[in-house]
Amino acid sequence: MRETLMAGTFDQRGQLVIGDGRIISCFGKKRSGKSIMGTLLFRSYPGDRIVIDVAGDDGPMGPDVVDLKGTVVDLPRRWPESKRKDKERMTLRYVPDPGSPTRLEDVDAVVALALSHGDCALLIHEVNYVAPSGRVPAHMSRLLHQNRHRNVTAILCDPRPITVDALVLAQSDVVYVFEMNVVQDRERIAQTIGWNTKDFAEGVTDLGPHEYLRYDANQPKPASDDDPDYRLVHFPALPEDVAKQTYDWAHGGK
Ligand SMILES: Nc1ncnc2c1ncn2[C@@H]1O[C@H](COP(=O)(O)OP(=O)(O)OP(=O)(O)O)[C@@H](O)[C@H]1O
Ligand SMILES: [Mg+2]
Repeated sequence: MRETLMAGTFDQRGQLVIGDGRIISCFGKKRSGKSIMGTLLFRSYPGDRIVIDVAGDDGPMGPDVVDLKGTVVDLPRRWPESKRKDKERMTLRYVPDPGSPTRLEDVDAVVALALSHGDCALLIHEVNYVAPSGRVPAHMSRLLHQNRHRNVTAILCDPRPITVDALVLAQSDVVYVFEMNVVQDRERIAQTIGWNTKDFAEGVTDLGPHEYLRYDANQPKPASDDDPDYRLVHFPALPEDVAKQTYDWAHGGK
């Protein structure tokens, strides 16, 4: 059993091996808990980090975060090392302007920054803004195909899997699925991960508030029908104090 667990994306203690260029996605209806989960994982990342905060209220934000400003023409091409305090790790934040005529290129320039820097984590709270179905811009496409070459971990959240390019799910090492009412969204996930759609729908329908299913694409199939299947596992909601601490940290707390 230990060998089986070690073969997946989680170590023997059940901790996500996050520093190793992973793609993690979180899907679920509004307010189901995706951003809290994404932020919790992002917080645990040990190096430099960038967040694309489309709604502008998810964070992390605050005095320890460096805000990136402007559009594709103004955004830095290189990591803003001059803003690093001592030798501390840095967190950059970009709140895009949805009215910008270059909105897709703007966010793609931030993805380019993560790729050119390497060894970092990128959190995107609404990934359909950066990888809309059928219209993935160049750097986002590179990230989804080649993130491991640059050792970039991407944490990608969205309420609607069908509005997001199929590559996001197909390339995810781990998928977190929260409450999800739309049939087509559930079917998109089940079909992409190769799960029986009826079984998957039942698992999702049974989820209570903030509970989730976790799919680990790196976990092998059980050897026989008698062995437990760790690929898709149901979890209770994160404890309320963990959710609160994560929210507070993202909004400028320590
Ligand atoms: N496990 C939890 N226990 C208690 N509260 C939680 C939990 N997870 C999330 N919440 C709370 O629920 C609210 C919504 O969470 P979150 O922002 O993660 O939702 P979301 O799925 O990202 O929603 P949206 O689609 O609007 O971005 C937050 O106020 C958060 O603190
Ligand atoms: Mg959110």
